[in-house]
Amino acid sequence: MNRVYIKTYGCQMNERDSEQVASSLRDRGYSMVDNEFDADVVLLNTCSVRDQAEQKAIGKAGYLAKRKRSNPNFMIGVLGCMAQNRGSELVDRLPDLDLIVGTQKFHAVPDHVDQLIKSYAAQGPRPTTILDLEEEEGSQNTIKDHLPKKDQVCAFVSIMQGCNMNCAYCIVPKTRGRERARPMDQIVEEVHELAEQGVKEITLLGQIVTSYGRRDFPVVGGKSPFVQLIERINDIEGIDRIRFTSPHPRGFKQDLVEAYRDVPKLCEYVHLPLQAGCNKTLRAMNRPYTKERYREIVDSLRAVVPDMYFSTDIIVGFPGETEEDFDESAVFFEDIGFDMSYIFKYSIRTGTPAETMEDQVSTEEKERRNHVLLDILAKRSLWRNEQLVGTVQEVLVEGPAKKGYKFVGKTRGYRNSIFDGDDRLIGQLVQMKVDRATASTIYGDLVLAGVDTI
Ligand code: 5AD
Ligand code: SF4
Repeated sequence: MNRVYIKTYGCQMNERDSEQVASSLRDRGYSMVDNEFDADVVLLNTCSVRDQAEQKAIGKAGYLAKRKRSNPNFMIGVLGCMAQNRGSELVDRLPDLDLIVGTQKFHAVPDHVDQLIKSYAAQGPRPTTILDLEEEEGSQNTIKDHLPKKDQVCAFVSIMQGCNMNCAYCIVPKTRGRERARPMDQIVEEVHELAEQGVKEITLLGQIVTSYGRRDFPVVGGKSPFVQLIERINDIEGIDRIRFTSPHPRGFKQDLVEAYRDVPKLCEYVHLPLQAGCNKTLRAMNRPYTKERYREIVDSLRAVVPDMYFSTDIIVGFPGETEEDFDESAVFFEDIGFDMSYIFKYSIRTGTPAETMEDQVSTEEKERRNHVLLDILAKRSLWRNEQLVGTVQEVLVEGPAKKGYKFVGKTRGYRNSIFDGDDRLIGQLVQMKVDRATASTIYGDLVLAGVDTI
């Protein structure tokens, strides 16, 4: 009864939360398995940001529920954002669920699973669904443990939870609650431990990392708590690279721009959500900046790092976005020259201000706009990668590629890189001469002291 499989939907925060749950279950004696068929307990860690993500998880839970007919002791849990968003409504829809755990209660999962196993072992009537959706003070400090993994090169570190913004389309403030930062010392300690285990690259995670600790820690020497945190991680021996996701344009100030010049381990890749490249739409979305301000941030970053890579999130078909508004957004999107982007079709979220806005855009029109942006992105990302052909890039080796005998790694600019490698290179910085590029990947051979090897 002690084999658990966790399936994760959604963002990197969710991936990180799932790792925490896995680590705490393992400490409690459970064994984590890597497919649902071998598991006695399946936990779905869910996402609510778009309807499609919720529907996928609901579909999966319904499918899993059928297994209970042949094996009544099989247990199903729903964790995270959708659990928080839909709560007891989920039980009405899926009465076979054993466990529903919200975003501030991940640490309670082992207790609940223990409890369920006891109830099932007692062979009485089927235990009622456990619902645990309370807010909990300090819950942001519970996402701190990692599963020691062989050859782990890159790790995510959660630095805060929640979001105090009120973007009109977004469900996250409801599912994740108010902004809460972890103490800086604790985060630094966690990164030290990861470095000792051999981790080389750290990605700091939060809904709006630029807001990190702004009410808990003072600005020192013109530097925000977030920049102070980056500097402290830069000092940790063994760590080669630092990344973060996501900043907010409102909090992207000069101190952070200068960090790209002054902090050597901070990689030249920024994921900076734009959401719309039209001021009217930005205002309707309740995003507190203009496209001109966004442009200024991009320009100031390019001024310190000319070949900076940019990635973004953008939504098409927000209510009231006319064809002209969209065209303006698309022109801006092309002008900036994004190397990567997540392009989202607006999805109505119950309870958000945009839900009841007039002039909702049709599905076909959202689809069309989506393709316009995808085409712009495909051209630009291919062009940018092609610029690298013939150059030598520093690549951090992550491990064998999924298919074939090749190895994968990334450049500092987050270009996916494929080359002939060797297990001994995992976790090392190598030089790769690029000989071919697609929009998503660069290919090449390793060079050592100017000589082609391997
Ligand atoms: N519809 C479409 N995309 C959304 N996002 C957030 N809410 C919605 C929604 N209702 C996108 C935003 C955000 C990313 C994580 O998801 O672009 O940055
Ligand atoms: Fe949602 Fe806006 Fe907060 Fe991002 S900043 S999580 S889009 S409310």
